[in-house]
Amino acid sequence: MGSERTTVSFDRTVGELVAEDYARAAVFAEFGIDFCCGGDRSVARACAEAGVQPEAVGQALAALGRSDPQRPDPRGWSLGRLTDHIVTTHHANVRRMIPHLRQWTATISRVHGQRHPELHEVERLASDLADDLEKHMLDEESRLFPLISRLDEPAGGDAAQRARPGALIETLEDDHAHAGALARRLREVTDHYVTPSDACSTYTATFALLKEFEEDLHRHVHLENNILFPRARARWARGAAAVSSAPAHDRTGARSG
Ligand SMILES: [Fe+2]
Ligand SMILES: [Fe+2]
Repeated sequence: MGSERTTVSFDRTVGELVAEDYARAAVFAEFGIDFCCGGDRSVARACAEAGVQPEAVGQALAALGRSDPQRPDPRGWSLGRLTDHIVTTHHANVRRMIPHLRQWTATISRVHGQRHPELHEVERLASDLADDLEKHMLDEESRLFPLISRLDEPAGGDAAQRARPGALIETLEDDHAHAGALARRLREVTDHYVTPSDACSTYTATFALLKEFEEDLHRHVHLENNILFPRARARWARGAAAVSSAPAHDRTGARSG
């Protein structure tokens, strides 16, 4: 990370700024600004909604300096590389953590629930989040991602272009908002994952896992909501424009740029 300071325009969206440099995600989170599901709002609007001064957020962002040019930038990846990365990294992380999440939250709810009744809600929330994400990831992997990654391929581009699954993307975005709300509630109920003085090692490990799960979910949803879905939508929109402007007899062969 360089030491040169940089300023940001408050008119730009939160999602764009985080896509440019993921280090900014921590600053937005610190100010209570949702950069995943609320990434399409301008910094000015997000600050107003969170009740914080844009100047304070701007100073904290500027203090980060310029992003590391060596850091991989997913905005430059092909759509196929991006979907592969999401599946092999974030979907794999969710699937790796879910069995522990279910088992450990059930254990601490049973063992410590009498002294800490909030753990019953933690167990319910973790179970709902796991159920929702398991179905959601299957929808992405079986229905949307194959179409998106085919937009990269000359041979598969036409069929993928014709699909235009706008409603499916909206449903998946709604899933993200619902998962985000469950994760926020988990953070509230656990008082930001702070364990009490009588916590055993399973209790401590469960809260550490919940925190890791939430951080991975934020990055995962950010990649989809702020980078993958807007790029796919833009490709479909360009394809639709190309079809509507082509002569009628050429329309079956129209392809986006
Ligand atoms: Fe995903
Ligand atoms: Fe998703």
